[in-house]
Amino acid sequence: MKIAVVGTGYVGLVTGTCFAETGNHVTCVDINEAKIKQMQDGIVPIYEPGLEDMFHRNVNEGRLNFTTSLSEGIEGAKVIFLALPTPPGEDGSADLKYILQVANDLGPLLADYTVIIDKSTVPVGTSELVQTAIAKEAKFPFDVVSNPEFLREGVAVEDFMKPDRVVIGTQSDRAKEMMSKLYAPLVRQGNPIIFMDERSAEMTKYAANAFLATKITFMNEIANLCEKVGANVDDIRRGIGTDSRIGKRFLFAGIGYGGSCFPKDVQALAKTSEENDYQFHILDSVMRVNELQKTKLMPYIQGHFKNDLAGKTIGIWGLAFKPYTDDIREAPALYNIEALLALGCKVRVYDPEAMKNVQDQIGDVVEYSKTPYDAIDGADALLIVTEWPQFRTPDFERMETLLKNKVIFDGRNLYELPQMQELGYTYYSVGRQSVN
Ligand code: UDX
Repeated sequence: MKIAVVGTGYVGLVTGTCFAETGNHVTCVDINEAKIKQMQDGIVPIYEPGLEDMFHRNVNEGRLNFTTSLSEGIEGAKVIFLALPTPPGEDGSADLKYILQVANDLGPLLADYTVIIDKSTVPVGTSELVQTAIAKEAKFPFDVVSNPEFLREGVAVEDFMKPDRVVIGTQSDRAKEMMSKLYAPLVRQGNPIIFMDERSAEMTKYAANAFLATKITFMNEIANLCEKVGANVDDIRRGIGTDSRIGKRFLFAGIGYGGSCFPKDVQALAKTSEENDYQFHILDSVMRVNELQKTKLMPYIQGHFKNDLAGKTIGIWGLAFKPYTDDIREAPALYNIEALLALGCKVRVYDPEAMKNVQDQIGDVVEYSKTPYDAIDGADALLIVTEWPQFRTPDFERMETLLKNKVIFDGRNLYELPQMQELGYTYYSVGRQSVN
């Protein structure tokens, strides 16, 4: 099938590349000329495990092309994916200007029956707006389908190729048939394609992300309480996660969720509720708790150094909002850096992928280290923010020779308490008793 993907951000590029991998001819369209040129020159603009190989294979085999021209990109395409940004506007609602602009442009360009698919996370009712915008000048029949993505950064290719489920919102049999054909290679294991109306599909995406953000936040609050009552959140996680109604995943307490999806989607869903005269109380709490959670180790840091942090050096391991990505959007590390600098600390950071993005954003107010060990050389303490696997089993003996004090503040609970006790570290983590 010939496919066009409009918008080559992380969702668009993964969607385009993966559909090329299943044998379709895909043209990716973007208004950013530099980015299109980069991809035409064989450079993948984002870091996503498995994407680069797949990208080159499909480019070399002629199934993956790039253009800045919408009319050229959609020529002959039976389906057109819209994977455009929906940034939060000032009031928290998703801004639809990019999607509606492309929808307006698409109408007169359609040259046959076409399925247009909303892949971006959009508020309930957007597919109707897209439908109206295209219909203004369309001379051929078309259907607008809502097909939300559930891709996690860092495992997006795997999530795309082996989805737990595919959600398709459409009431058109013709569109259903095309979507079934397109997704057939990805659901061979028996994972379902779930058909529903457009509004329900749009709502499904928000419900999934808001639920997961709530699940994490609930555990973060349990963790905060565990610290006060002398319980261990890791045991609670195992104790409740084995209940199949609760499930093992997304129960890891830490210093808050970040990224491009959870914060934005929770905020947008709260906004949708407000607009519909419904006060979604849980979401308000989730947002408030997560803001506080990001810097929840700060009082421990201040307490440990008796409120005298001026001139102290803190080494930070991990800047990305989670491992296997260079994405720093809403990353807890940024909030901690800001708080530490405000208290007069020197901050030295290390992250295997995200240092360039941080440097582009905040410049040289912190020192960027080549290795995790350089980041703690002569430092007064280590603060762990992202659970990159390489931080899980560090050389503690070497660390001991580098750190001025054997103190670790761990926002991701990477180490066992008895181990830290034995090694003689002062160790603060989340939802567990501190080790002195
Ligand atoms: C998420 C959704 O999972 C995905 O389906 C959606 O389409 C986009 O948003 P992503 O933002 O890439 O994906 O990351 P995810 O792996 O879901 O983690 C989100 C955040 O939650 C991270 O900050 C992570 O550190 C945090 N998290 C996750 C926890 O704090 N505890 C957990 O147990 C799990």
